[in-house]
Amino acid sequence: MGDKGFSAHFSIVCFFSIFVTMHLVLGDLSYSFLEEMERGSVIGNVAKDLGVDLRTLSSRRARVDIEGTRKRYCDININTGDLFISERIDREGLCGKKASCVVKIDLVFENPLELHRVSLLVQDVNDNSPKFRENLMKMEIRESSEKGSRFSIGVAHDADIGQNDIQRYILQTNEHFILAVENKVVALVLENKLDREKQKEINLLLTALDGGSPQKSGSVVIHVTVLDANDNAPVFTQAVYKASVPENSPPETLVITVSATDADEGVNGEVTYLFGHISGEDASLFSIDAKTGKITIAGEIDFEETTSFEMSVGAKDGLGLIAYTKVLINIEDKNDNVPQIFLKSLSNPIPENVATDTEVGIINVQDRDSEKNGQVRCSIQENIPFKLVSSIKNYYSLITTGQLDREQVSYYNITITATDEGSPPLSSSKTLQLSVADINDNPPVFEEQSYSAYVSENNKPGSTLCSVSARDKDWRQNGTVIYSLLPGEVNGASLSSYLSINGDTGAINALRSFDYEHPFLKENYEQQL
Ligand SMILES: *[C@@H]1O[C@H](CO)[C@@H](O)[C@H](O)[C@H]1NC(C)=O
Ligand SMILES: *[C@@H]1O[C@H](CO)[C@@H](O)[C@H](O)[C@H]1NC(C)=O
Repeated sequence: MGDKGFSAHFSIVCFFSIFVTMHLVLGDLSYSFLEEMERGSVIGNVAKDLGVDLRTLSSRRARVDIEGTRKRYCDININTGDLFISERIDREGLCGKKASCVVKIDLVFENPLELHRVSLLVQDVNDNSPKFRENLMKMEIRESSEKGSRFSIGVAHDADIGQNDIQRYILQTNEHFILAVENKVVALVLENKLDREKQKEINLLLTALDGGSPQKSGSVVIHVTVLDANDNAPVFTQAVYKASVPENSPPETLVITVSATDADEGVNGEVTYLFGHISGEDASLFSIDAKTGKITIAGEIDFEETTSFEMSVGAKDGLGLIAYTKVLINIEDKNDNVPQIFLKSLSNPIPENVATDTEVGIINVQDRDSEKNGQVRCSIQENIPFKLVSSIKNYYSLITTGQLDREQVSYYNITITATDEGSPPLSSSKTLQLSVADINDNPPVFEEQSYSAYVSENNKPGSTLCSVSARDKDWRQNGTVIYSLLPGEVNGASLSSYLSINGDTGAINALRSFDYEHPFLKENYEQQL
């Protein structure tokens, strides 16, 4: 105890010394005094209180008697009769929390032998501070705790009693807690809800105060760890994710990685990814890695089927709070479709006398790809009397560019080639056979300019005299030659009475027996078309 403490103590001694009272109950004495008084402090005068002459104290060998090894505490000054403190008296050591602390000593006189019981009432002095069991109290409180929740904390102890014992607690002003003390139970009461994501740890200073004078106090720091509650849903880094991927990309091609974070801890903050609403077909085209959020290709992506996908992707934390984001996947066209050629109409065969610039066919080309990949140019080979003229989009007319002659070229293999403008370009071709129909535009031509035959007279009627032959370059009927004799007269008789011709074979037969002596016979014939 310092000087200040001592002077305070001293004043208490003075104050109490007025009240140090003497009790004489059946010859017994009682003194009340403060603990921890200095050695030699007088607490009473037994000579006076017992009404004994001072001089007899010495002769009667007055003394404080103790039993065994017990402490003596007090002694008597036989010259003055004063009872004084001979040893430190610590009330807490003697009596603990007992409300009254009485130490009994015996005062012995001899000759004649006399025993006086003296009760020493040791009064408490506020010489102990309130003490908490530890300097730091650790608590864990879940952030989901409701307002008004109570959390009991350990109380402080003060060895002193009565007013000198703990009278109240003070909690340092803070945002979240107030203090409730009831029936010696101290509790923190939640006033404002906690939020671990804002403040993970809170230190509170709790002070216990006693009622002594001077007042003593003891403090403890309450370290509150705010435990996580799954109060945060995952949050995606973007509200919409946009990606672009070429069609026909092989499986496992990475499209995009989505990412969400969850402010909670542990399981509460563990995010797994999944597809939200997605149509059954789309679901088989893409897959998502639950852990990494990587969206990859799982099926065949065909731009010509679908040019873009919109899907919802969810992020779920360990306890099922879920957040969604939108993923837009744009599919890029690849030149993967060969142009197709369709023959829409064709005049086949076409007559060989068809006029130049006549449309003989209509061709349509189609390419399922887009933009340049779907732009198609069409051509046919050169050196044929045809050309392609582009009419409306993707339609071409096949037009004649010159005179046809079936007898020269009876059909054309026209190869149409369609090529798109992709890179690399794709092309396809189609060959159509266009026949040229006959027109009867060629007269029959005899193999010889003239035919001569010599016949012996007296020939048999019906014998063949000779054969003529003509050819016609036209087709079938138009090229079939029928022979006939032109009408004529020989010596007044018709020619047909002398000769006949086989229309099919051109064989000329005699109809009668000729007589040399008859005038010269001249054969004549004519073809018939
Ligand atoms: C036309 O095509 C046919 C088969 O398609 C072929 O047999 C014929 O030789 C071709 N003709 C010409 C003149 O190329
Ligand atoms: C013969 O020519 C005519 C026109 O001169 C034509 O109409 C006819 O179809 C042709 N016959 C054959 C078998 O080609």
